[in-house]
Amino acid sequence: LLLVVFAFGKTYIVGTSADFPPFEYVENGEFVGFDMDLIRAIADEMGFNVKIVDMAFDSLIAALASGNLDIVVAGMTITDEREQVVDFSIPYWVADQSVVVKKGSGLNITVLFGKHNVGVQTGTTADLWVEENLVNTKILTGKFKRYETFVFAMTDLVNGNVDAIVLDSPVAEMYAKTRPVEIVGIIKTGEEYGIAVSEGNKELLNLINEGIRRLRESGKIDELISKYF
Ligand code: ARG
Repeated sequence: LLLVVFAFGKTYIVGTSADFPPFEYVENGEFVGFDMDLIRAIADEMGFNVKIVDMAFDSLIAALASGNLDIVVAGMTITDEREQVVDFSIPYWVADQSVVVKKGSGLNITVLFGKHNVGVQTGTTADLWVEENLVNTKILTGKFKRYETFVFAMTDLVNGNVDAIVLDSPVAEMYAKTRPVEIVGIIKTGEEYGIAVSEGNKELLNLINEGIRRLRESGKIDELISKYF
């Protein structure tokens, strides 16, 4: 009851990076996807309203910390580094990373070695992984390209301007269905996605966690999984 009183009728600003199907993307001018439905369902369940705003993935944490956003739902992986700045909900998804190339390019997983050009979305776990494991070690000696959105990254891949993109597996699978690209390798990271709030915002975090638990129990989460996957 206390939780509900805290938030009832309030409108929270939710930030996302709407380039990440099937979690968040734009269709007919609307923000749709698993994450978008999830946060709307949590809001309905717990008695608050949400206003969704789209921004570069790399700006989301800073916007939360500065108070421009109340909540971030962006397929965001719970990491120790991010935990220092924001607070995460209980995990709601587990994903690995995939290596994607242009269909028919003949490239395979060795695209991550040597003089190839590899791209990621700026500020993602893929960005960190490639930098740490391939760039800093000089295993990869081609260009390391950072994109503001996956939409730009995929376009560059299809146009032959980059050899491979590293991104979360569920999203790679979705792009492989809609664009002439294919997955040639999986990096088993087992990363967990959480909904983020600003550091110390316990009331809002409890509300979100309670919402996730209730939607799990009611079968609503399963319904959203069947809708988007
Ligand atoms: N899970 C990865 C991370 O947290 C990628 C998330 C990208 N999300 C997006 N909406 N573009 O770094």
